[in-house]
Amino acid sequence: MERGSFGTKIGVILATAGSAVGLGNIWRFPYMTGENGGAAFIFIYLICVFILGIPGMIAEFIIGRHSAANAVRAYKNMGGKCWSYVGLMGAITSMIILGFYAVIAGWCLQYLYAALMGNIGGDVTSVQNYFKEFVSNPIEPIVWTITFILITHFVVTKGVKKGIEKVSNILMPTLFVLLLIIVISSCTLPGAIKGIEFLFYPDFSKVTSKVLLDALGQGFFSLSLGTACLCTYASYFSRQTDLLKSSIQIAGIDTIIAIFAGLMIFPAAFSVGVNPDSGPALIFITLPNVFQQAFGSLPVFAYIIGVLFYALLALAALTSTISMHEIGTAFFFEELHISRKKGAWIETGICICIGILCSLSQGAAKINIFGVDFLSCCDFLTSDILLPLGSFLTCILIGRVVDKHVVKDEFTNWGTVSRSFYAIWLFGIRWVCPICIIFVFLHQLHII
Ligand code: TRP
Repeated sequence: MERGSFGTKIGVILATAGSAVGLGNIWRFPYMTGENGGAAFIFIYLICVFILGIPGMIAEFIIGRHSAANAVRAYKNMGGKCWSYVGLMGAITSMIILGFYAVIAGWCLQYLYAALMGNIGGDVTSVQNYFKEFVSNPIEPIVWTITFILITHFVVTKGVKKGIEKVSNILMPTLFVLLLIIVISSCTLPGAIKGIEFLFYPDFSKVTSKVLLDALGQGFFSLSLGTACLCTYASYFSRQTDLLKSSIQIAGIDTIIAIFAGLMIFPAAFSVGVNPDSGPALIFITLPNVFQQAFGSLPVFAYIIGVLFYALLALAALTSTISMHEIGTAFFFEELHISRKKGAWIETGICICIGILCSLSQGAAKINIFGVDFLSCCDFLTSDILLPLGSFLTCILIGRVVDKHVVKDEFTNWGTVSRSFYAIWLFGIRWVCPICIIFVFLHQLHII
């Protein structure tokens, strides 16, 4: 069977960064930061990314590149039959994530449409009401969700190289510049300083076990870790790709974009009086005010920035949903021995079902589990439990099960790069990552 591969070096970084950068940075990071009290959460998040995230990323890269196969087969190749269940867990987790992620991406499409039509705006209350009315409509958000999943399906079935690489190459730099413009305008709004303080002056007395778990989950979610997603991407890497360098670059880009998103939302939220604790609605009820207030004297400029922003956000979400979709598609295609197209349709069908339930749970119907709406429940189950668990098992596999020579060869590209960091990284994978993840879990369960 033919497996594609990435064409250029920069293409590898941009496509993998395209998977990492998405709603996780721009939608989820600000709302998690707002719910968990601000700067202290960010501090712990950064620790999670650099101490647990980067080593974990390299571990997934090694599995993927070494096996050059779908998630389930890759884990099986490395560790034997029972490890294939970890790959399977990754494929299932990514389906659930894609289901709820597409709902939020669908909201972006609706906002893009509304921005194009010049329909969002007004005072703070009317922006909030607009959001409430839209998400509790039973039909519209579902139509957008399905549209988004179908677009993802279309890109995935066009093939790895052409589809993914092309989209990522143009998207990332443009998104970066646009975010910078919005950050500057948000930080110059009256009263913005309060938001900046919220982001950068930590109050560690607010740190609870929930803050630790959320920061850990956010770190893994944002880096696309723990579902064999990076492993599936790395199966398309070449033997020359420096895994350590690539993981640092990707984590760096991902973190900068997340911090930018924080700087875009909180100064504006404090300035116009939106509560930072507004949950998943946060960016949707804050941003229309930013565009209006910051560029109010130049309505054409406000219009262009608004449209561009939602378009780029939807595209950033697309490069992430492609990566999630790819895990299931590669799995069905290679394991069930059906055509790639059919494999993609199975994945699409399952995700649409999950997406519909998540979308309805936002107001149109009461779909609650343990008193939490279905979307938040899927989010919590995947980000805070399944992703850390997946990473934990990946660390055990690479650190303790797989032959050391294979691991060393992959890490150092057969002795040509990054040799001096190997020992530090291995120590991280064998001890630091597993112990930290267990500690956060036990702390959350109030055992320690
Ligand atoms: N990291 C992406 C984001 O920040 C989301 C994502 C893509 C993801 N693929 C994933 C999350 C796999 C977990 C697992 O938007």
